[in-house]
Amino acid sequence: MTKKNGPAGDKQTQVLVKAALAASKNAYIPYSHFPVGAALRAADGTVFSGCNVENASYPVTICAERTALVKAVSEGYRSFDTIAVVSRGGGFPCGMCRQMLFEFAPNLRVIIADLDGQVTHDMPLSELLAHGFGPANLKV
Ligand code: THU
Repeated sequence: MTKKNGPAGDKQTQVLVKAALAASKNAYIPYSHFPVGAALRAADGTVFSGCNVENASYPVTICAERTALVKAVSEGYRSFDTIAVVSRGGGFPCGMCRQMLFEFAPNLRVIIADLDGQVTHDMPLSELLAHGFGPANLKV
């Protein structure tokens, strides 16, 4: 067996990608047919997963990343280190998700993988959302 090197191949990454893939199976996607799964790891190691949930009123749809985040925050978690996001072709989180993740985890590590679990990107959120607007900006 070939041992993968580098951050994208580590055990914890594989665990998160696997959780994201499992969540993507629950995606409610009657309109786009585009499943997305996310797995967000809290600072203490707890993993929250999420999928996209679409709506007949299209803009009401919630993305997989925000599903995972609101599940975690509503359970009392506010500190996160890594998120894995899986989708067909390995798409990046949308702008709304980037902003919402930035609120709680400006230093988040973002792992992107396709639906085969192949990691295509591993980068900081700060690269996806440069000069993000966050809670610090509202301090007087
Ligand atoms: N989607 C996500 O779940 N996450 C993203 O960051 C991008 C888009 C979902 C929303 C919708 O259900 C489908 O992908 C197509 O846009």
